[in-house]
Amino acid sequence: MSKHGGLKRIGVLTGGGDCPGLNAVIRAVVKTAINNYGLEAYGVEDGFEGLVENRFLRLSYDDVSGILTQGGTILGASNKADPFKYIEPGKEEAGPSDLSQQCLENLRRAALDALVCIGGDGTLSITDRLGKLGVPVIGVPKTIDNDVVETDVTFGFDTATQIVSDAVDRLHTTAQSHHRVMVIETMGRYVGWLALAGGLAGGGDVILIPEIEYSLESVCEAVNRRGRRGRRFSIVVVAEGVKPPGGDYVTRERVADDVHEQARLGGVGVWLARTIEDLTRIESRTVVLGHLQRGGTPTARDRVLATLFGREAMAAAARGEFGVMVALKNTEVATVPLQKVAGRQRRVDSGCQFVQAARSVGTSFGDE
Ligand code: F6P
Repeated sequence: MSKHGGLKRIGVLTGGGDCPGLNAVIRAVVKTAINNYGLEAYGVEDGFEGLVENRFLRLSYDDVSGILTQGGTILGASNKADPFKYIEPGKEEAGPSDLSQQCLENLRRAALDALVCIGGDGTLSITDRLGKLGVPVIGVPKTIDNDVVETDVTFGFDTATQIVSDAVDRLHTTAQSHHRVMVIETMGRYVGWLALAGGLAGGGDVILIPEIEYSLESVCEAVNRRGRRGRRFSIVVVAEGVKPPGGDYVTRERVADDVHEQARLGGVGVWLARTIEDLTRIESRTVVLGHLQRGGTPTARDRVLATLFGREAMAAAARGEFGVMVALKNTEVATVPLQKVAGRQRRVDSGCQFVQAARSVGTSFGDE
């Protein structure tokens, strides 16, 4: 038995989609567990799927050495698996079943004294429910969307913002040379943080986000106004969660089955570029950044945040503090009750300083 609140073995899993910085958190959790508390560490393969299917992996110090800079997750991801409405492979016809008790049994058998779940809003809600069933859980907020409440920022967001900003920089030259409108569609699900921050960093002329209602007249006027000032090109950054006026979300491939998958957003940029071209007669093109925004090595800032989060998750476990999420609060890493996070979404406040600053430098939100 260890002297740290009776802890001996800890587990870590990565839920939902991949995100830059996941491996940095895993590394920090495992190294802190070993270095600071003398614990044994286990990884759960493929998120909650591995928890249901009893797939645990012993993680040594060497296993997590050298992964700080790697994108993705060494543990694997599955963004469909929810133990409370689990679709068993081969039994899809039967529909979802609640396999949470099976998870509890697997955790008991693995003798884990704490489980660190790294993920976005969906994963954190599941983590909260497992916590309420008695599992000693700690959440770590991950997502390029930055839509988790109770933390100033999630890890992964800085890297994705950098990728959007780099893309805008590169597309500027084509827009300028060909006197075109370039529409850049970002991810971000139902919130506009990524389009807003990426557009602000890249100096977008128009930024459209789900939180600010826009009109096509206003967007086209912003483009034409630039033309009248001799600027014969425009950069429009649009979040995938923006709806055409009076319409619904634009989705790619197929819509969610409502049980275990959210709608796959994407494509609004294609519609927008076509519409701007029709209305302004200025040649327009679209670039959908898609999963490029989640790939590759995390920025230094995300590596630092991920390391602070991973270390604090272990410190919370050692204090016997469970049912919490680690968070960044005014530059300090803290813990907040998972219950305050579950089922909520952090949207952009249309009066926030990001929006104010963008407006001050002449960016249009299509609402003037
Ligand atoms: O939540 C992260 C995110 O990348 C969203 O921005 C995006 O809408 C979604 O995941 C894409 O999911 P998938 O990888 O399942 O297509």
